[in-house]
Amino acid sequence: MEIYKTRKEATERINELKRQGKTVGFVPTMGALHEGHLSLMRCSKRDNDITAVSIFVNPTQFNDPKDLEHYPRMLDKDIEKLEAEKVDILFAPDEKEMYPEPDTRQFDFGHLDKILEGKHRPGHFNGVAQVVSKLFQVIPATRAYFGKKDYQQYLIIRELVHRYMPELDIEIIPCPIIREKDGLAMSSRNLLLSPEERKSAALISQVLFRARELSSTNTMTIEELKNFVIDTINQNPHLKVEYFEIADANTLLPIENWYEADKKIGLIAAYCGQIRLIDNVEFN
Ligand code: PAJ
Repeated sequence: MEIYKTRKEATERINELKRQGKTVGFVPTMGALHEGHLSLMRCSKRDNDITAVSIFVNPTQFNDPKDLEHYPRMLDKDIEKLEAEKVDILFAPDEKEMYPEPDTRQFDFGHLDKILEGKHRPGHFNGVAQVVSKLFQVIPATRAYFGKKDYQQYLIIRELVHRYMPELDIEIIPCPIIREKDGLAMSSRNLLLSPEERKSAALISQVLFRARELSSTNTMTIEELKNFVIDTINQNPHLKVEYFEIADANTLLPIENWYEADKKIGLIAAYCGQIRLIDNVEFN
């Protein structure tokens, strides 16, 4: 695997490969790689000649300094995983390389950055947009891969390209959520849970799956289903729901009646102890 630490070298190499007629798939990450990340790399390898991955824990998207401080970092172990997946290129810059000067750009995504995660993590999506717009310039890929685990982030990135980088010609590909055996959506933050919390965390996805079943029986209103999800999860002493919303999956605008949208999605953020977890489930 080729490893680049500077933007200039990485861009030169990608442009050289593209001049040779190669397609490039790009998977941006913050490291502490797990099967969820690796699944994106497998999608990229399936679709492209070359797969490039970035690892950079982006400080501007952390609205909570403690979250940034505790975020797991394990570059050597990550490199072993990337080698095993036969990833071609790793871009692993340090903070100075990505932000030689403070990034003061303010992005506006309409309603999309002001609801759900945007509402509860002020500045988060602005930081994501700052770093991803820089990364897309460093790695001008043919396609970029994002997990539906962070569903709102995926929509934000689509909008970022559409509104702010239309010249870029990069296709944004969403990939399915990868879960642990008990249903918990894989996340680097799961490493921070105590064994007891880890057991409780599985309830979040299990209740979401139950909600999907209940929604298909047409016996509950949206309000009733939302209350069921929130109350059931909050009964667990380790868990506290921050929000649960049912929304139109195309716009993420909340709906009050099932007929208001074709594709619907339930999105949740919940604390498990001190650790904030997110998950979602698509309804039929
Ligand atoms: P990170 O949390 O490391 O996630 C990198 C990518 O992996 C994202 O597209 C995320 O949605 C995907 N992913 C994480 N867990 C997943 C799972 N269980 N199943 C499927 N995909 C999963 O998201 C970020 O980093 C950052 O915000 C980033 C886009 C890199 C910008 O800093």
